[in-house]
Amino acid sequence: MKLSEKMAEAINKQINEEFYSAYLYLAMASYLESQKLKGAAKWMEIQYQEEISHAMKFYAYMNERGARVVLKAIKEPQKEWNSMLEVFEDAYKHEQYITSLINDLANLAMEEKDHATLALLQWFINEQVEEEANTSEIVDKINFVKDSPNGLYMLDRELGQRPAVTTTQGEEQA
Ligand code: FEO
Repeated sequence: MKLSEKMAEAINKQINEEFYSAYLYLAMASYLESQKLKGAAKWMEIQYQEEISHAMKFYAYMNERGARVVLKAIKEPQKEWNSMLEVFEDAYKHEQYITSLINDLANLAMEEKDHATLALLQWFINEQVEEEANTSEIVDKINFVKDSPNGLYMLDRELGQRPAVTTTQGEEQA
């Protein structure tokens, strides 16, 4: 069964949001790099890859359902932050926003009784629980070490150990 036009348009919008998320996290990575926080920058680069994999998961699904992917301009992300804490607070807020978009998509799929799309969105609903938990945990850790240079050094090292995304479909993510 072909996707409805309304659902296809909503998924196209989400593809753009996922690419924007990737762009935003790469901008954060670049800021962190400029602050010599190489581990945190690496964490954000992996987050960038993860967002690309989310966009591609929707992309593949649209093709499978015979819908046309239409790519739109990606808006320019913020480029400066005041601290590593501010970066991760913003990442957490951004993930909460993405969760709300995924929930809106799930509501639409429910309205349309589109069970296949709901099944796909179930994966994203679970993924968002993880996305929010990961970013909020890092905010907590930064608050915990406060301004201790030693603590920040250790945390930066820990963040740098995040494993890379291993598939283009976003199936096996840390
Ligand atoms: Fe694609 Fe971080 O949500």
